[in-house]
Amino acid sequence: MVTARLEILSITRRFGGRPVVDDLSLEVMPGQVTCLLGPSGCGKSTALRIIAGVDRADEGEIRIDGTPVAGPGLFVPPERRGTGLMFQDFALFPHLSVADNIAFGLSGTRTEKRLRVRELLDKVGLVRFLGAFPHELSGGEQQRVALARALAPRPKIMLMDEPFSGLDNRLRDGIRDETLSILKDEGAAVLLVTHEPEEAMRMADEIALMRRGRIVQRGAPYNVYNAPVDREAAAFFSDVNVIRGRVEGALTDTPFGQFLAPGQADGTEVDIVIRPQHVKIDFDRGGQGPAPSPEHGVWARGIVERARFIGKDSLVEFRMEFDGSQMRANVPSVFLPKPGTPLWIAIRRDRCFVFPVTDRSPARRRAG
Ligand SMILES: Nc1ncnc2c1ncn2[C@@H]1O[C@H](COP(=O)(O)OP(=O)(O)O)[C@@H](O)[C@H]1O
Ligand SMILES: [Mg+2]
Repeated sequence: MVTARLEILSITRRFGGRPVVDDLSLEVMPGQVTCLLGPSGCGKSTALRIIAGVDRADEGEIRIDGTPVAGPGLFVPPERRGTGLMFQDFALFPHLSVADNIAFGLSGTRTEKRLRVRELLDKVGLVRFLGAFPHELSGGEQQRVALARALAPRPKIMLMDEPFSGLDNRLRDGIRDETLSILKDEGAAVLLVTHEPEEAMRMADEIALMRRGRIVQRGAPYNVYNAPVDREAAAFFSDVNVIRGRVEGALTDTPFGQFLAPGQADGTEVDIVIRPQHVKIDFDRGGQGPAPSPEHGVWARGIVERARFIGKDSLVEFRMEFDGSQMRANVPSVFLPKPGTPLWIAIRRDRCFVFPVTDRSPARRRAG
């Protein structure tokens, strides 16, 4: 069995009595990228700071390669934890050259340091900037130097807090991919904090979805996206349509036909949650609409309110005839029906999620 490189065991951190990190546990395996993903303010940075050793937990323990580095009566300082840090504002030292910035935390002989600096600059493709100063570099280049600097002492664990959020969109994808391949190459275990689902999906081997100080779901990006634990988890990754219904005999009747609600007691209110790209659209056929099918269930009629081309697909907004609620569909390529056009909508049975309604589920929006 492979030992986890990093183990976080039930850490809690309170500010003014309020738990900001609340009984959080997580492991990161060697050579893996784990993304701590969650909305702003959910406690991601606080958790990362505790792991780095720049803050202390009120409860819980942290182990690196099986050895405790923080816990009751124990605190190993940051510089002795073997972690590399990269934060959002990765300030380089302005008065040091690129090479000296990277060499800053290195020990060893001058030759050893020079070789390591050279190797890293080669990896990030910036050998020509060896003697340059930070202000002579673009934002993306500075980011790569910061990465090289963090990796220079060969940290066993890289802790990264929204390291790409300062970069403009055009640069970001390229730098993310490049960073990922360098991190994999160096073999570090990576814990990357982000509030952007796309970034987590792109970077992570495993996503840990965080909410209000706790981890609510963990898994490969594919699983977290396709099997969310609740409505809020589904809605964190994309816009969602929600149809509310009531369970009767493990089934829920809706304007789109019946949905299975296995294990839900009679009378339970449920939300049927569906991403806009899994909504099907068909033509009006003189007001008849398409025939029901096992895959799509019953079709319901809606009137187009707005249609926009948003890149590789189109987003169409409907006002549904059955109750005046709004629904959204993503349609591949260019599909721009005029407002007022009647169309029929169906929900893919294999792609919808059925969740019991909780106090936190907002009621669906009604037509004004
Ligand atoms: N030193 C602190 N003192 C008091 N409250 C703090 C402190 N640090 C963070 N918080 C609060 O803890 C919550 C979580 O913050 P943070 O960990 O930065 O969230 P995230 O990184 O997920 O956006 C926020 O409400 C923040 O205001
Ligand atoms: Mg943060």
